Amino acid sequence: MRKGSIIQLAAIATVAAAICIAVALAIPWMPTAAGKEAQRIDFVFWFTTAIAIAVFSAVVSVITYSVWKFRARPDDDSDGPPIHGHTTLEIVWTAIPAVLVTAISIVSAIVLAQNSNAGSDPVKVGVLARQFAWSFTYSNGKTLGYLEVPVNRKVQLDITSDDVIHSFWVPQLAQKQDAVPGQHNKLVITPIKIGTFPVICTELCGLGHSLMRSHIDIVSQAQFASFLKSGGSTTGPPGLAVFQHNGCASCHTLKDANATGTIGPDLDKLKQYAAQAHRGSLAAFIKESIVSPGAYVQSGYQNIMPATFGQQLSAKQLSDLVQYLAEQAK
Ligand code: CUA
Repeated sequence: MRKGSIIQLAAIATVAAAICIAVALAIPWMPTAAGKEAQRIDFVFWFTTAIAIAVFSAVVSVITYSVWKFRARPDDDSDGPPIHGHTTLEIVWTAIPAVLVTAISIVSAIVLAQNSNAGSDPVKVGVLARQFAWSFTYSNGKTLGYLEVPVNRKVQLDITSDDVIHSFWVPQLAQKQDAVPGQHNKLVITPIKIGTFPVICTELCGLGHSLMRSHIDIVSQAQFASFLKSGGSTTGPPGLAVFQHNGCASCHTLKDANATGTIGPDLDKLKQYAAQAHRGSLAAFIKESIVSPGAYVQSGYQNIMPATFGQQLSAKQLSDLVQYLAEQAK
């Protein structure tokens, strides 16, 4: 092969690589990583992308060079040369991809092992998914409709579901884990960036799937320590604990519970709703709305509240919740 053709091939490959690298870097393909696991996953992504760009550029340069140099002239009607393979070339183009794919699998295996290592003392949080809300329970029994975790500490999530299959996902933490009824799936996160990020259900789970969202607050370790200490599930009226444990806050607004959900009716307006609904006393209206939410749907909202709370809540929990909501409405 002439030296000149090698230079031409290299030039084409360089141009192709430069275009690919510019596209790869100019577009923000992925959210900013807020966890160590996400950084490792991003590394695997870029490692694979670099290999893909190198292979693509080499192939493009050979194809472009061949089309340019070896194309048939307009008056050339002769047959092409009888080519019967080239053993060395075939070994080379089999061996190089084999090495690259093996490298990707080794890097992936290392990252997978690191990302599932919870260390010796992780913060443990139970994650319960149900149509269509998340609830998060800490080892001291504190339960909330959103997730709060300390920065720079390993957190082990124990994810399960009450009804159908859901999936836990925080884009900035890069990992997804299914929430399966009867199964406890683990997910390790190591937050590195203080801030608030969305928690998204990423498994089609019913009519309210697209609305099944919460958020994760990544806070300083000191702030997390005082968060854990302040108010377990035992403070406040019993109905408030029922409200918090069942993820009501992810869909409803209720000032007393610091709930700001906007998917379902605003529970601070229950009195006004009851007056419009004509479904008996305030307490009867609230109870009916929890047990058979489809019986009366407040205008401006969709009929997507799960009809399962009647079975999930004990009679005591239900009456506590009704009493609590009725008191807030007065
Ligand atoms: Cu839960 Cu989609």
